Amino acid sequence: MKPKEIISNLSIDDKIKIITGHHFWYTHPLKEYDLESLLLTDGPSGIRKQSEGADALGLNKSIETIAFPGLALVTSSFNKKLLNRYGTLLGSIAKSERVNILLGPGVNIKRHPLGGRNFEYMSEDPFLTGILAFEYVKGVESQGVGTSVKHFVANNRENQRFSNSSNIDMRTLREIYLKPFEMIVKRSMPATVMTSYNLLNHVYVSENRWLLTDILRNEWNYQGLILSDWAAIKDRAKALKAGLDLEMPGKDSYTINELKVALHNGDINEEMLNKSAERVIDTIQRYQSEQEPELYDKDAFHEAVKDIANDSTILLKNNHQTLPLASKTFSVIGDLAEHPRFQAGGSSKVNPYHVVSAVEALENDMNAFARGYEINEEDSNNELVEEAVELAKKEKNIVLFLGYPEHYEGEGYDKTTLNLPDNQVQLLNELYKVNKNIVVVLQNGAVILMPWEDKAQSIVETYLPGEAVGESIRDILLGTVNPSGKLAESIPKRIEDIPSYYSFNKSKSEENYLEGLFVGYRHYDTKRIDVQFPFGHGLSYSNFEYSNLNIDVNTTHLDIQFDVTNTGQYDGATVPQIYVGNQTSDIEMPTKELKAFEKVYLERNQTTTVKVTIPFDDLRWFNAQTNLWQFDHGLYELFIGESVSDIRLNSTVNIINEQLDIQQPLINEDTYLYEVIERKDEMSHALEKYEFDKMISNINEDKSLAPLFKNMPLRSLIMVNLDINKIYCFIEEANKEITQTTDK
Ligand code: GLC
Repeated sequence: MKPKEIISNLSIDDKIKIITGHHFWYTHPLKEYDLESLLLTDGPSGIRKQSEGADALGLNKSIETIAFPGLALVTSSFNKKLLNRYGTLLGSIAKSERVNILLGPGVNIKRHPLGGRNFEYMSEDPFLTGILAFEYVKGVESQGVGTSVKHFVANNRENQRFSNSSNIDMRTLREIYLKPFEMIVKRSMPATVMTSYNLLNHVYVSENRWLLTDILRNEWNYQGLILSDWAAIKDRAKALKAGLDLEMPGKDSYTINELKVALHNGDINEEMLNKSAERVIDTIQRYQSEQEPELYDKDAFHEAVKDIANDSTILLKNNHQTLPLASKTFSVIGDLAEHPRFQAGGSSKVNPYHVVSAVEALENDMNAFARGYEINEEDSNNELVEEAVELAKKEKNIVLFLGYPEHYEGEGYDKTTLNLPDNQVQLLNELYKVNKNIVVVLQNGAVILMPWEDKAQSIVETYLPGEAVGESIRDILLGTVNPSGKLAESIPKRIEDIPSYYSFNKSKSEENYLEGLFVGYRHYDTKRIDVQFPFGHGLSYSNFEYSNLNIDVNTTHLDIQFDVTNTGQYDGATVPQIYVGNQTSDIEMPTKELKAFEKVYLERNQTTTVKVTIPFDDLRWFNAQTNLWQFDHGLYELFIGESVSDIRLNSTVNIINEQLDIQQPLINEDTYLYEVIERKDEMSHALEKYEFDKMISNINEDKSLAPLFKNMPLRSLIMVNLDINKIYCFIEEANKEITQTTDK
């Protein structure tokens, strides 16, 4: 039966039940209409299906499953196919465990590295997030399992996440924070979108009609289900009115009473109930599965997630080609090598099938192991330090595992530091005194500041690499795999350099996005602030050269092609990134914005031609005055390279978007004289007819006064005794000329 038909037979109580969660993780069944309960379960980097107890924070035990690398790492692959594979593998496990909706991906922007859930999110860049999250969604949904794109919108901090207001100007909201959701929703049909806990500009997101109905439904044409984050709804009637379909978890009779009272008071009507109930029923019909689930091969999946981590790991530094190491030429130091960080706390935390530590994976290749520090202690342990130093004295190379203890970061609270624990840094300093060949391997969810960077010959960033943590780093260190990950977020030198330093977590209730568009590299690159490692950075054991740039400016898009050659000694991969700098629009703009990227795999000495397309629509900016995405004809600079700072090719193109009528704006009394001078060719007859040309040439003769006069609107030229009627006649004549020119 069609949802509408079912609805027509339902009582008010049943309609309210169907839009209300059931037993924490489920939707309500309606057996008489062949509607099963859908099971919704966390992701986004593993299946956290609870076998006993139910909570949204990873407190109760969940089934044994494969712990995938976290999205902070996998996004660093810059590999669209890999994210699709990641989603497909995850979706197939979900199907095997009878999960109907996987609660992921989390696509909130990494506005500040102290953000508590940065480990779970993807990037500081909305384009990279949108492109790769789309692939994740496509992969999961390809298995008949739904997704939940979260947390819509502006959940960029954890402290007071249930009540703080993310205060964002419209252009920034559109171009940065809404953009990943828009890209995913418009290009795919994720089963659900999950609203965030926070307020947006002082309105709860779950009660925000402008967001949920005007934007998500009406403007983006989203047809799927909007559900709340767990316990995000304060006022169910207001949420229903705003367009929030499904409350999770449900509050059973409390909600039935609440909504019946609201119906009685006229705060909501039955049509609202029907619409949301229809969407829930439609979702149940689309995602309930009669298929007998198949078991999955855990060992094969373990291998698969190792490969995913391998393609994502980032080689930040590699002086003197210290890496890759030969077997038996190094020892391993650091508690994290034996007790690894591979995931973080909160709703994403899973019960892993088989965690393999670096010590286990490297047992046949390393000479020895020393703990060096206790990961859950802040203070140094002198015995452990001395043991490690003694080992370092006699060893050629040291592989030192450093990173954040688990309690440093997790869902539900923001970080308080970007520094490693003191005992780890002190150990590094002691080791450096006796051995200069130190390779640092990092395990962390969020960015780590590296004032100690000069003491490491090589630095490998593995973020939270999932349960195959040890095998993956073994492959990278020994060169079995040539690293090809790229930073999806900038690593600043100092916390004070971070654009949201002034405002992040400065108030319990107000989070003011004062930096506007200038998040991450948009800030550092525009202000030319040196960073430790820039967005898009990641080394290889090979080197790559770029050549033969060719750009075609078509009627609706740019076609860009260039060659990349692997000039190194290893087969490997790299990620050419294409950034665009708007040199045209009369509004503040970042120097560069990522608009395309492609991961390419090249054998030694192999050359490939990379071809990318950038639609002009991707070059629009959001004009909050007109409430429209605006494209401006004119100059755009293209930067192509290995990171936002390592540009290998660049060019400038003049784009006339023929899809848009090139209506030059008319002038009026507020038009400045300098604008008239810039556009004199469009109104030459009017200038001559009313002798404005003579007036302008007289002004230009006086170098000191000229800037003053040019910086005046036409209406104020009465200050130099110009007749106001003459000014308006000139404006009328000039506009006639501009219109005639455009119509040609
Ligand atoms: C949590 C999280 C959300 C998760 C949900 C269910 O509080 O914010 O990401 O999917 O509740 O556990």
